[in-house]
Amino acid sequence: MAAPPRLLLLFTLINVLVLNASSSSSTSFTPPDNYLINCGSPEDTVLDDGRVFKSDPQSSSYLSTDEDVLTSINAFPKNLSSSSSSSPLYLTARIFEHESMYRFPIVNLGRHFIRLYFYPLPHPSYNLTSSTFTVTTDDLVLLHGFSVKDNSKMVFKEYLINITSDKLTLTFSPMKKSVAFINAIEVISAPEELIPDSASALLPVGAFNGLKDYAFEVSYRLNVGGPMVTPKNDTLWRTWIPDGKFMIFPEGSKTVSVPTEMIEYPKSGATPLIAPPWIYATADQMADSGTSDPNFNLTWEMSVDPSFSYLVRLHFCDIVSKGLNELYFNVYLNGLLGASSLDLSTLTSGLAIPYYQDFVLNASSISNGSVIIQVGPSSNTQSSVPNAIMNGLEVMKLSNSARSLDGLFSSDGTKTKRNLAMRVAAGVGLTLGATAILLLLMGLVRRQKSPKGYVKQKTFSSWLLPLNSSQCSFLSSKSKSTTFSSIVNSGLNLGRYFTLNELREATKNFDEKAVVGVGGFGKVYLGELDGTKVAIKRGNSSSSQGINEFQTEIQLLSKLRHRHLVSLIGYCDEQSEMILVYEYMAYGPLRDHLYGSNLASLSWRQRLEICIGAARGLHYLHTGSTQGIIHRDVKTTNILLDENFVAKVADFGLSKAGPASLDQTHVSTAVKGSFGYLDPEYFRRQQLTEKSDVYSFGVVLFEVLCARPALDPALPREQVNLAEWAKQQNAKGAIEKIIDPVIAGSISQESLIKFVEAAEKCLAEYGVDRPSMGDVLWHLEYALQLQGTASASASASASASDAASASDDEKKKKIVEKDETVVVDMSDDSGVVANPMFLENFHGR
Ligand SMILES: *[C@@H]1O[C@H](CO)[C@@H](O)[C@H](O)[C@H]1NC(C)=O
Ligand SMILES: *[C@@H]1O[C@H](CO)[C@@H](O)[C@H](O)[C@H]1NC(C)=O
Ligand SMILES: *[C@@H]1O[C@H](CO)[C@@H](O)[C@H](O)[C@H]1NC(C)=O
Ligand SMILES: *[C@@H]1O[C@H](CO)[C@@H](O)[C@H](O)[C@H]1NC(C)=O
Ligand SMILES: *[C@@H]1O[C@H](CO)[C@@H](O)[C@H](O)[C@H]1NC(C)=O
Ligand SMILES: *[C@@H]1O[C@H](CO)[C@@H](O)[C@H](O)[C@H]1NC(C)=O
Ligand SMILES: *[C@@H]1O[C@H](CO)[C@@H](O)[C@H](O)[C@H]1NC(C)=O
Repeated sequence: MAAPPRLLLLFTLINVLVLNASSSSSTSFTPPDNYLINCGSPEDTVLDDGRVFKSDPQSSSYLSTDEDVLTSINAFPKNLSSSSSSSPLYLTARIFEHESMYRFPIVNLGRHFIRLYFYPLPHPSYNLTSSTFTVTTDDLVLLHGFSVKDNSKMVFKEYLINITSDKLTLTFSPMKKSVAFINAIEVISAPEELIPDSASALLPVGAFNGLKDYAFEVSYRLNVGGPMVTPKNDTLWRTWIPDGKFMIFPEGSKTVSVPTEMIEYPKSGATPLIAPPWIYATADQMADSGTSDPNFNLTWEMSVDPSFSYLVRLHFCDIVSKGLNELYFNVYLNGLLGASSLDLSTLTSGLAIPYYQDFVLNASSISNGSVIIQVGPSSNTQSSVPNAIMNGLEVMKLSNSARSLDGLFSSDGTKTKRNLAMRVAAGVGLTLGATAILLLLMGLVRRQKSPKGYVKQKTFSSWLLPLNSSQCSFLSSKSKSTTFSSIVNSGLNLGRYFTLNELREATKNFDEKAVVGVGGFGKVYLGELDGTKVAIKRGNSSSSQGINEFQTEIQLLSKLRHRHLVSLIGYCDEQSEMILVYEYMAYGPLRDHLYGSNLASLSWRQRLEICIGAARGLHYLHTGSTQGIIHRDVKTTNILLDENFVAKVADFGLSKAGPASLDQTHVSTAVKGSFGYLDPEYFRRQQLTEKSDVYSFGVVLFEVLCARPALDPALPREQVNLAEWAKQQNAKGAIEKIIDPVIAGSISQESLIKFVEAAEKCLAEYGVDRPSMGDVLWHLEYALQLQGTASASASASASASDAASASDDEKKKKIVEKDETVVVDMSDDSGVVANPMFLENFHGR
């Protein structure tokens, strides 16, 4: 649920104030963005560094979960609390059964720390040590298929990412039949200067530029030669651990330390934000060997994932020399010379002055899975005593080409690159009139007929199923490696098998009178099975497609289950029939409730709820499966309403833009049917992405607002295309003029602004500029909230049917959500119940 901006601002202010009050350390950095959440905790948690982590109820406004989610659980094992070394942040957790998101408004764009705390607490209903999940940001994979198998281990993950939009979404997606959990979250602005754009490259030697394009995961951060430095003593609440266990030959080293007051930061270069004085005031140096060979290296070895490149930051501060130019040493990274005869006193013009250097270690240099850092005396040393030192070291993983920090899966398989050709195409596209688009369309249809068409030929899937990213050769293919069989074998519910006789009976032998629709697939009949009304889609059995493929497709389809997708109940493949049985949606297509029929008008609130429902369904389609499925034909006739006005997206399994094997009238009818909704970028490039659905959904939103068809040739030319007309009117600030007059008076101004903003963003020229369905959903929920506050008093008179729009279940859930207490969804079929014992434990602490 979204929180009103004022509330968010308040949170931010409180955070800032708390920080200011507590930052007694020498240098203070006040992060403009500072979100600290102790997930699952019923009360705020104050750490020993003075920071306050918000309780679960206090932070629920950032959380947006799917409605069927069991939202939160507190677990509190008694043993853990007594162990003083562990942070209180690990004592509670939030568990997600379904994909869930935290969204944080971002005040200052740029680098931010994201810190995640995981500990698999024991719980009677969930086995968190066996849970597997994925954590992503808006465009980055932080963790993929992540689990904490060892229940004695607390796992801390820290990232440094560049946030380029005004909000950050952290998405937790459980794997199939699993849950996700999180114990605590930090999202904190990092100072601009923390990561410069360039570093030294080693192979070949030179400068590595463009660090700003990478995200980082902190793999190691060591305070060499000193104790652990906790967030309390760090300027940016970092943790530095001792280096002892990473040293290959600890006997060869001895520690040295000076009082922190002796550390003098240079005018340019290192600052207390780069590393606090505690780091520079301690070091390892070479032990007085007393041996015949005083020449050796101090060596640290840290195991890493060898498929990634790393940024290595080495911190030095000459706290050992008595005078200038006494200490010369070499630095090696994985055997490659990083610095030769490094002379700190020359670099810093003094002693005890911090200095750091950044290196990029390419994945190709990390052959055996470790980063090895060595320092050793330079052979041409002028100094009397050979020595080498190290004060601190940091190893940070660089994101890979899939924008991932964990494996090769990207968070969004549809990453696109803009090129010049596209820009030109865009320019042309903008000037195209409706006729030109029509011409293009015809070209598109022709293209589909050619063997090189974008639709996979000669398989059932190409017309029964919407395209999904992994099947589209033009989409980034290396980022997706899910195989079809892995989906099929993932233990899904195949739906019910019906005999042909059963279905004959249900439809009175496929009586023409029972036909309620005709689609690309074939006819749709209203039938009755065991007293339940169902929609029965009968495929054209003259098609050449194989029954086996049909069955395989059903398996894929039946794994898509969501409250806002029309569900597949079962199928029949007897005697070469290809029949799908769906739940029946009593109130039919949304479009009929907007215009062109005699049905009663929907209130604004109802319309918002319907849009939210449809957005949820599409969001699930895009993100709910590993593949990400594209609907391809989002429009108001494909959004159906049940008898409670709950919106469900239909036809997601029956994309109509079929292959050449179907007759052309069918294809052109299908394309024409979507005319007015089609993504302009999709025209130009014939590349389907989820963002094409987002575009179409934008048209749906305006259709809902204005209650007119997406395309109305009867209107004056500039008004024919709703998307263009609405954008034009909005640009002129005249959107009010085209709102459905029936509801115009009852929409609150704030709600309208938010809604139109969402719709307009969906219609952005380029897919990359359009929001994800998750973002759209967020906007719409916000719009509903704004309407709620505006019309709470007026709502009684507004519409009686309004109240009927939300089912009882939904209302219950809303109330629970508003309450911001532990939410337990009894209706969830996983049979999970709240365990009061745990809460008692907590309060009895
Ligand atoms: C709690 O401690 C007891 C004995 O010290 C141990 O048997 C039990 O497994 C511990 N429980 C947890 C959750 O660590
Ligand atoms: C939880 O799952 C792990 C791994 O699957 C298993 O080893 C462990 O025994 C399970 N624990 C419980 C309490 O079921
Ligand atoms: C973040 O990314 C933007 C856009 O790529 C870039 O201009 C900016 O310099 C980056 N900031 C940092 C701190 O890397
Ligand atoms: C942390 O700071 C305190 C003073 O603020 C100091 O006494 C203590 O030694 C420091 N700890 C470390 C590990 O440096
Ligand atoms: C130190 O390590 C580097 C790189 O591994 C190696 O080339 C060099 O010979 C070592 N120096 C000594 C004295 O062992
Ligand atoms: C690593 O090296 C390879 C080939 O030498 C290069 O293609 C790649 O861009 C490098 N990666 C980084 C992060 O420098
Ligand atoms: C990596 O190789 C070095 C020798 O080159 C060896 O000492 C070290 O144990 C190896 N590390 C791993 C993790 O295999």
